Amino acid sequence: MTARVALAFSGGLDTTVCVPLLKEEYGYDEVVGVTVDVGQPEAEFAEAEATAEALDLEHYVVDARAEFAELCLDAVRAEATYQGYPLGTALARPVIAEEILGVAQDHDCDALAHGCTGKGNDQLRFETVWRAGDLDVIAPVRELGLTREWEMEYAAERDLPVEGGDGGTWSIDTNLWSRSVEGGDLEQPDHVPTTEIYEWTDDPTAETAEVEIAFESGYPVALNGEEMEPVALIEALNELAGRYGVGRTDLMEDRMLGLKVRENYEHPAATTLLAAHEGLAGLVHTQAERQFTQHVSQQWAQKAYEGLIDAPLVSALDGFLAETNERVTGAVTVRFEGGQARVVGRESPHATYSAEAASFDTAAVGDIEQADATGVAKYHGFQSRLSGGADDGE
Ligand code: ARG
Repeated sequence: MTARVALAFSGGLDTTVCVPLLKEEYGYDEVVGVTVDVGQPEAEFAEAEATAEALDLEHYVVDARAEFAELCLDAVRAEATYQGYPLGTALARPVIAEEILGVAQDHDCDALAHGCTGKGNDQLRFETVWRAGDLDVIAPVRELGLTREWEMEYAAERDLPVEGGDGGTWSIDTNLWSRSVEGGDLEQPDHVPTTEIYEWTDDPTAETAEVEIAFESGYPVALNGEEMEPVALIEALNELAGRYGVGRTDLMEDRMLGLKVRENYEHPAATTLLAAHEGLAGLVHTQAERQFTQHVSQQWAQKAYEGLIDAPLVSALDGFLAETNERVTGAVTVRFEGGQARVVGRESPHATYSAEAASFDTAAVGDIEQADATGVAKYHGFQSRLSGGADDGE
């Protein structure tokens, strides 16, 4: 019987060396490469195709952009970020893992493999999906303890097609939702990055622009009056907001294994949509809902970061979010200014708001008079006064 293994394949150094290693070290007869499209740049597919051809690799490309974009918009509804990172790589991994599993099943594979190292988050995100099934899971780079240096030598010895050489100065992961840059000089937390690391964002100038984003039940559905599918909406906003330098994050990130890593990200659409959602929810939700949502967002983001988007908790949180977001319908005006996406206007038929009640110009709201607040003011701070914690005037 022929033993076949499906490999998550990008055409980069790690996954390229995995192809011969899976045969020589693990005894598989055939390797099937799978590249999943979650909105990487065109050049990455060209590289994957070219490398697959040079390796004589059976290779499949699966388009998962629409599905991935929907998950990104779930993250908008949840207002989810992890330490300021909008989770692009984290959200993409379960989608990629599922697609590869599908290809493996359709093409009679006995095992699944990835080229992740033993230091990062992605190994965990892939394997949580794969280990739910009954195919073997293999991680050659981690299991054989490979280093980039060793991989380069191995590739040179065997004349493997590693076009991009060592892959450049930084390790970069790009999809629809975010672009991450790490490694090289960025590993020094005090090193101030040069603008070379940015590809999606220009340095902010004095120029500003405004966009209007329409939401339906917590999901963005239109940009400047034009209805758009999730993929198109995200692409358009990455383009638009990126020109004004919106969506750069430079942070010390706590990885799942406990390692702290310096990460730089670009995510213009995510920053804009997250700000817009928060702006609209601020108009619609009660104070209690807004406060509770912060816990929900944090838990949702934590699970998403861990690649556990299918966890029962996430489904329960989504239930809460679906209910509270039924009313998050309306429109938000966002201004790109000084590298920020600032909400400058919002409207909704479900506003928990009365201009009349809040106005400085009216004394009464219905049958409630201003003077009715006197009793409330007398009681306010009652316990602080009793406890002696506050100055009682003596
Ligand atoms: N730290 C991020 C995460 O775990 C992004 C990692 C992206 N990988 C890379 N090679 N740049 O989600």
